[in-house]
Amino acid sequence: MAIKYEQKDTILHVENLSVAYGEKVIISNVNFTEKDTVRADKAQGQTIAFVGRSGRGKSTLFRALTGLEAPTTGMVLIPDYEKKIVNGQQPAKKVKEGDVGFVDQKYTLFRHKTIYQSLKFACRKTSLSDAEKEEKIKQYLHDWGLDSCKNQYPNELSGGQRQRTAILEQLLSSGYYMVLDEPFSGLDVGNIQNVKDAFWLINDSNELNTIIFSTHDIDLAVELADSLYVLGYGKNEKGNLVQTGTVLKHFDLKEMGLAWHDGLTKDHLDLVKEVKEIMLAS
Ligand SMILES: Nc1ncnc2c1ncn2[C@@H]1O[C@H](COP(=O)(O)OP(=O)(O)OP(=O)(O)O)[C@@H](O)[C@H]1O
Ligand SMILES: [Mg+2]
Repeated sequence: MAIKYEQKDTILHVENLSVAYGEKVIISNVNFTEKDTVRADKAQGQTIAFVGRSGRGKSTLFRALTGLEAPTTGMVLIPDYEKKIVNGQQPAKKVKEGDVGFVDQKYTLFRHKTIYQSLKFACRKTSLSDAEKEEKIKQYLHDWGLDSCKNQYPNELSGGQRQRTAILEQLLSSGYYMVLDEPFSGLDVGNIQNVKDAFWLINDSNELNTIIFSTHDIDLAVELADSLYVLGYGKNEKGNLVQTGTVLKHFDLKEMGLAWHDGLTKDHLDLVKEVKEIMLAS
C-alpha cells in the first residue's frame, strides 16, 4: 500500500547546469527540483540516489552540488535559512563551499589527525556540550567498529576504516544536507549495514535532512532512495551518443509507492531491471 505524503518547499533546485573541465564539457543541461517531503505521522527526510556508468559525471555533478566546482552554465539553489520567509517561501541562495557536507570518493581525511581527533574536530560547530560530544563520539566509534583504531592516523587505516571515518565526520558536522559519493563501495556486509542504518537514522531525525548519494549498486539505490536519477550520455539529433553526461531519467519512488520500504519487493526488482537497461544504453 502506498504511503501518504505531501511535497512542500523546494529544498534543492538545479537549473540548466553544465560543468566543464577546461574545454571538455562533462555534464550539461541538468535540471531537477527536489521538495521537502512531509508525512503526517513522522519526520521524513529525503534520500536521493544518482546512478550511472563510470565517467558519466556523477562525481562532477556532486562537486557542483556542494559548491566545489563552479558551473559553466546554470545554477544550484538551496534555501537560505538565515533569511526570513517571504510569501510562505524560504528565499533561495546559490550553494557555496561549506553549505553542504561532502564525503568524496577518495575519503579525504586530515593527514595529521587521528580518527578520534578528526571526529572531535568535526563536532566543533555543534551545540553539544563537551561531555555530550565525548559520549556521541564514543558511541559512533563503538557502533562503527572503529574503537581499536581511534588513535591511528589515516595512513595507518584500511580503506573501509577511512571511509567510515569520513562518513562519521560528516554526520557530526553537517547541517541538513549530506552528499556522499559512493559511500558503499569497498565495504563489508556489516559496514554496509552501518551506513544503511545511518541513512535511515538521518532520514528519521529531521524532515529537512537530505542525503544525496551515488552508487554502482542499483539494488541498494532502489532500496534506499525515495528519488532516483539515472545519469548517462545523451543522444544528438542523429541518435548517436554524445560524450556529455545528463539526467536521462528520474524515478520518483514515493509516487510509485516504492519509497520507505524494508527490503526489495518484485516491483523494486522490476525497477532495478529498468534502470540497468537505461544505463546499458547510455
Ligand atoms: N579534474 C578533472 N579534470 C579533467 N577531467 C576530469 C576531471 N575530473 C573528472 N574528469 C573527467 O570527467 C568525466 C566524468 O568523471 P566523473 O568522475 O564525474 O565520473 P563518475 O560518473 O563519477 O565516474 P565513476 O563512476 O567512475 O566514479 C571523466 O571523463 C573524467 O575523466
Ligand atoms: Mg565518481
